[in-house]
Amino acid sequence: MAVRSRPVPRFREVPCPSPACRRLRALREALLRRPLGLRLSTADCKGEQRQRHFLLLDADNRILAGVVLRPVGPAAAQLRQMFVLPGHQGRGHGRRLLAGVEAVLARDGLLRIHLHARHDAVGFYRRCGYVPGGSPFRALGIMHQRMSKRLPRPPS
Ligand SMILES: CC(C)(COP(=O)(O)OP(=O)(O)OC[C@H]1O[C@@H](n2cnc3c(N)ncnc32)[C@H](O)[C@@H]1OP(=O)(O)O)[C@@H](O)C(=O)NCCC(=O)NCCS
Repeated sequence: MAVRSRPVPRFREVPCPSPACRRLRALREALLRRPLGLRLSTADCKGEQRQRHFLLLDADNRILAGVVLRPVGPAAAQLRQMFVLPGHQGRGHGRRLLAGVEAVLARDGLLRIHLHARHDAVGFYRRCGYVPGGSPFRALGIMHQRMSKRLPRPPS
């Protein structure tokens, strides 16, 4: 019997506000806050109209993975609240989403991405080229590590 390969998910940037952005926010809350006994806070969502929202979508337009990028000064951004749906992790979707985000930001002239990695996710970001900096710190009741990656300059 022929083995059917899974279609590669589509990478998209979505505007905020939009229906897709609302679905993304619901997943961020369900996957990244509820397991900690929390909800997305006002601070989590403040100023999101000025932040950038990226997704991976399956063939039925369901969100498989998502992330938010907050501008930090003119040449950097902070990567926030990244997730891949449980059941779809470990298939390269996280790496694919990050690669898409990095290509878009590098094309737009940004030079660096910063993030606060959850302790459990530090190995993933390392595999994707992010470098730890500074001491681990506690936030939301779990240990985090500051990490960053320098983006390639766009060809002139
Ligand atoms: C962390 C997360 C985004 C990774 O996404 P993913 O789709 O499972 O990761 P990928 O399959 O793209 O993995 C890419 C590489 O990182 C490695 N990797 C993935 N998760 C890892 C982890 N937790 N620790 C160490 N390495 C990891 C993979 O083995 C793979 O290695 P390779 O270079 O040998 O191929 C996902 O597991 C997730 O959503 N976790 C729960 C939410 C979370 O912690 N988000 C991060 C908040 S800071």
